[in-house]
Amino acid sequence: QRVARLAAHFSGGLQEPEEGLHAQNTSAPGDGYNVAVLGAAGGIGQPLSLLLKLSSRVRELRLYDVANTAGVAGDLSHISTAAHVTAHTGPQQLGDALYGAHLVVIPAGVPRKPGMTRDDLFNINAGIVRTLVEGVARYCPGAWLAVISNPVNSTVPIAAEVLKRAGVFNPARLFGVTSLDVVRAETFVAQALGVDPAGVHVPVIGGHAGITILPVLSAATPPLALPEERQRALMARIQDAGTEVVQAKAGAGSATLSMAHAAARFAEACLRAMSGEAGVVECAYVASSLTPQPYFASQLRLGPAGIAEFLPLPRLTPLERDNYERMQEELRTSIQKGLDFAARQ
Ligand code: NAI
Repeated sequence: QRVARLAAHFSGGLQEPEEGLHAQNTSAPGDGYNVAVLGAAGGIGQPLSLLLKLSSRVRELRLYDVANTAGVAGDLSHISTAAHVTAHTGPQQLGDALYGAHLVVIPAGVPRKPGMTRDDLFNINAGIVRTLVEGVARYCPGAWLAVISNPVNSTVPIAAEVLKRAGVFNPARLFGVTSLDVVRAETFVAQALGVDPAGVHVPVIGGHAGITILPVLSAATPPLALPEERQRALMARIQDAGTEVVQAKAGAGSATLSMAHAAARFAEACLRAMSGEAGVVECAYVASSLTPQPYFASQLRLGPAGIAEFLPLPRLTPLERDNYERMQEELRTSIQKGLDFAARQ
């Protein structure tokens, strides 16, 4: 059924959001796009908003948070780039932040402290994501939606269920942001190769927590030839890199600056694809029929209407295949947790 639904979508068989009130969401303006950041005053939200303010593809940058939004927006608004920055604080201003948005990025929610897993954030962040996505469904149902809030493995299924319930779910436009795993993989592989990370590419598939993060080192370019023990250690370092930062920050939060960079890179890729640029390929955690799991991160070719193509999964070595098998149960449980939460509402 899922495959049929995705196929129907790609062949144009699924209904687009209503014309009229929200029609502007699917237009492709020549003078830039409206981007909303929900959770804009936070550790990720602030540097992410800074990077988006520097993007020539952004026309309006709408900053939404429950507190401190005016200060962040006032500060950013003095930067001499074209993007127009607006501030929106509290639920009554969510609609203004979202109306007419082409892309919505959600870094709202609490981050990890030492000793916590991403799943420990579920109880708080699940409700935050649900409420914000209800706003997306209502005010900008055609927008592309990029969810950063953890646990991504569960918050993306929650977002999908909220959008389905509102009758506006478009699987080609809902993304869990896993770009930080890709950025980390590129950095550490470049260090192992002794080359500039700018020329390194590593697909990272699966999800965004522990063993569900599977960097496919055997598909890296330039190719990486390491003994199995070093490969194993490199995979583990990429999987645990978030925890490395959480421990170094010692209670002050999780990755924010590298995450802001990764999210800005993903957002920019979305805007490039929206505007018709060819060959935009990114990894993200999406509704997928490539594996037994209904959500899975893999390489996607993005086009003007969202996901244009799922690239086939890279061929896995026995070591990677073993990790792939071991992640299945955790991924299945995390997805089900999200679905159960959404069903209870
Ligand atoms: P933070 O606590 O510094 O900022 C979160 C912001 O969200 C705050 O400004 C807060 O006021 C706001 N917020 C809370 N409830 C809200 C609501 N209902 N509506 C709008 N805004 C609300 O946290 P940080 O470090 O920015 O992390 C945010 C999230 O990103 C966390 O869930 C964290 O686990 C996740 N994360 C995800 C990564 C990924 O690779 N996908 C990597 C790193 C963090």
